[in-house]
Amino acid sequence: MSSANSKRLRIGVIGAGRIGRVHAEALRFRVPEADVRAISDVRLDAATDASQTFGIPKACEDYHELLNDREIDAVIICSPTDTHARIIGEAAKAGKHIFTEKPIDLELSKIDAALAAVASAGVKFQVGFNRRFDPNFKALADQVRAGKIGKPHLVRITSRDPSPPPVSYIQVSGGLFLDMAIHDFDMARYVGGEEVEEVYATGNCLVDPAIGKAGDIDTAVIVLKYRSGAICTIDNSRQAVYGYDQRLEVFGSQGCLLASNNAPTRTELWTAKSLEAPKPLHFFLERYMDSYVAEMREFVRCVQTGAEPSCTGDDGRKAVVLGLAAGRSLKEGRPVKISEMGGKA
Ligand SMILES: NC(=O)c1ccc[n+]([C@@H]2O[C@H](COP(=O)([O-])OP(=O)(O)OC[C@H]3O[C@@H](n4cnc5c(N)ncnc54)[C@H](O)[C@@H]3O)[C@@H](O)[C@H]2O)c1
Repeated sequence: MSSANSKRLRIGVIGAGRIGRVHAEALRFRVPEADVRAISDVRLDAATDASQTFGIPKACEDYHELLNDREIDAVIICSPTDTHARIIGEAAKAGKHIFTEKPIDLELSKIDAALAAVASAGVKFQVGFNRRFDPNFKALADQVRAGKIGKPHLVRITSRDPSPPPVSYIQVSGGLFLDMAIHDFDMARYVGGEEVEEVYATGNCLVDPAIGKAGDIDTAVIVLKYRSGAICTIDNSRQAVYGYDQRLEVFGSQGCLLASNNAPTRTELWTAKSLEAPKPLHFFLERYMDSYVAEMREFVRCVQTGAEPSCTGDDGRKAVVLGLAAGRSLKEGRPVKISEMGGKA
């Protein structure tokens, strides 16, 4: 092995589905400091396809092979949500640095056990809140922090998918609050720059009755009250017919910051009949690709330099607390204080 190679972080990817392929490709081709050694999936055909497509030397069915491999320094957990906490605990015990997709888990007791294993192993740990790494949202958050709009009073987050995922995905995802709005809860904390004190959520099933039958909602509005008294509203839909709608606004005492949708081009057609603009980039793979690459670069950099990742286990836990509070608010039809949820968010 050359000295250049020996400095690269040796990585195993667990899960070769939608997001596993995104991270494997980003690490393989856009993060020169990473050396992707293996990819595993309970569906060997999925692991093999990813290994052949991206030129990863090894594909296997059982992720324990990656954990037992002394030539692997770090793992990227991209398996379904209900497997994360267990794999985090095992990976930490095996001494691997860990990047996990969101959410860490759906239950706080499992999150706490996983984070305790990470702390006692002393490994690096980063949660996949990629939107923090989106150039538009990061620039907005940086300007809020720089005081450009004075004191934030209102945060508005619009987050609507172009179409719902399969019901089989929804069944193990934790539902709209913990699967989809979890990113928005993190963004609310990230751009608001402070903690949330109270959550009120309302929702309904207006897009697909099958989602309702699976016990979930597809449309929601969530109101968050920050400790300072500032207010955030989040609106979610599983189906926006015009495409992936991802907008952010922070309104403050001295002005307003806006981040609108990204489109394939900025070209608009203006005629006597109408004004036409291109639709937003289709979905998360198109819209957030740069952010996925940036979060992988951050993870690799932190492991290599010893720096702490900016998106921590505590951030992952706090977003889940907000999601659980939203679920309770919807069920009980009332605002829920975070102090009712264990007081750690
Ligand atoms: N940050 C984001 O923008 C983002 C986007 C999509 C998904 N996610 C998260 O990533 C996770 C995966 O989502 P997805 O959309 O890629 O799902 P997916 O169903 O497309 O892929 C999951 C893959 O994991 C495999 N798998 C199941 N059990 C496994 C195990 N024990 N070991 C190894 N592989 C296993 C499945 O066979 C499947 O190929 C979820 O937790 C989801 O919340 C995050």
